[in-house]
Amino acid sequence: MSKQYNIAVIGGDGTGPEVVREGLKVMDAAARRFDFKLAWTPYDLGGDRYLKTGEICPDSVIAELRKFDAIYLGAIGHPDVKPGILEKGILLKIRFELDQYINLRPVKLFPGVDCPLKNKGPAEIDYVVVRENSGGAYTGVGGVSMKGTPHEVAVQNMIYTRHQVERCLRYAFAYTARRAKRNTLALCGKTNVLTYVFDLWERAFHELGAKEFPGIKRDYYHVDATCMWMVKNPEWFDVIVTENMFGDIITDLGAMTQGGMGIAAGGNINPEGVSMFEPIGGSAPKYTGRNVINPLAAICAGGMMLSELGETAAAEAVEQAVMDATAHKIKNLGAGRMGYSTSEVGDLVARGVAG
Ligand code: IPM
Ligand code: MN
Repeated sequence: MSKQYNIAVIGGDGTGPEVVREGLKVMDAAARRFDFKLAWTPYDLGGDRYLKTGEICPDSVIAELRKFDAIYLGAIGHPDVKPGILEKGILLKIRFELDQYINLRPVKLFPGVDCPLKNKGPAEIDYVVVRENSGGAYTGVGGVSMKGTPHEVAVQNMIYTRHQVERCLRYAFAYTARRAKRNTLALCGKTNVLTYVFDLWERAFHELGAKEFPGIKRDYYHVDATCMWMVKNPEWFDVIVTENMFGDIITDLGAMTQGGMGIAAGGNINPEGVSMFEPIGGSAPKYTGRNVINPLAAICAGGMMLSELGETAAAEAVEQAVMDATAHKIKNLGAGRMGYSTSEVGDLVARGVAG
C-alpha cells in the first residue's frame, strides 16, 4: 500500500489561496508519479474570517494542527486589518505553539532568472539560511508604559536560552553535513555590540561544533557585513545560521538576489514535530483573484515539504520542473509580467513533474 500524508492547508489571505491551489496541483502530480498519497484538509484562517467572526486562530485549531504530518500555508496579511494582529495571531502563533524552531530559507538562483547582482549566476548564488524561529525579539517579552505621553517607554527584549541556541545550531551543523557542499557553516551575529546574546551564540557555536561536528568548518560574520557579502560575494556562503530577527532581515535580501518574492520559499520546521511550509512573499492583495500572481514560490515550498516528509525523489522532481520552467519558459517572475497566468504556470510545472 502506498504511503499517505495528511496535510493541513491554510490558503490564508489575498493571493494565498491562488498560489496554494497551484502548489497542490504540482504536489498531486508528484504523488501520482512517485506513488504516495496526499490528503488535504483545508483550514479557513485569515483576515476575512477575522473580520467576519472576530476569530483569529482558535486553540482548537492549534490542537487539530498538531495531528497532521505537515501544514501548507499560502499567505497571511489583510489590508483592512491592523498590521500585527494576523501575523502574530496566526503565523507566529502556529510557529510558537508547534515549536517550529527552525526557519529554513534556501537562497538559490534558478537558471534563466534575472539576478540584480552584476556578474553573478546560479553557480554563485546557492546557499541556505537557517534562521532561529522561536526566540529573540519575536518572543514579545517586554512592554510599554506611559503610552501616549512624552515619557512613553517601550522595551522588546532579544531573549535566548542556551537550549534554544544549541538546538538551532545542532540542526544547522547537521544540515550543513547533509548538504555536503562546502561543509562550511557561518554564524551571523553581532558580537561587537550585542555582547551578551551573541557571546552565548558564539561560545555555543564553537563548543558544539568542535565536539559534535569536527568535519564542519566554522565561519563568523557580523550581520551588517553578512548583508554586504551576500551582495558582493554570495559564493562564499554554504549555510548561514542566525537568530530570529537577523534571519528575517537577511532572508528578504537573499530573496531579492534569487529573483524576488515570486520564487522564494521557506519552511518552519520542528524536526521532532509538525512543520509548516510557505512562500515567503506576502498576500499581494492588489492582485487577488486576477490569476496573475506567480505561484513558483508556493510550488517550491511544496517541494520543501515533500523533502521534509521524506519524499526526496518527488521533491527533486518538483525543483527540476521549476528550474526547467525558469530556464526555458518563464522569463519574468513579476506578477502580471510572466507571460502566463497563475494556473498556466501551475499546469506547466505539474506537467514537468509528471514526466
Ligand atoms: C517572514 C515574515 C514574518 C516574520 C512576518 C509576516 C511575521 O516576514 O516569515 O519572514 O517576520 O517572520
Ligand atoms: Mn520576513
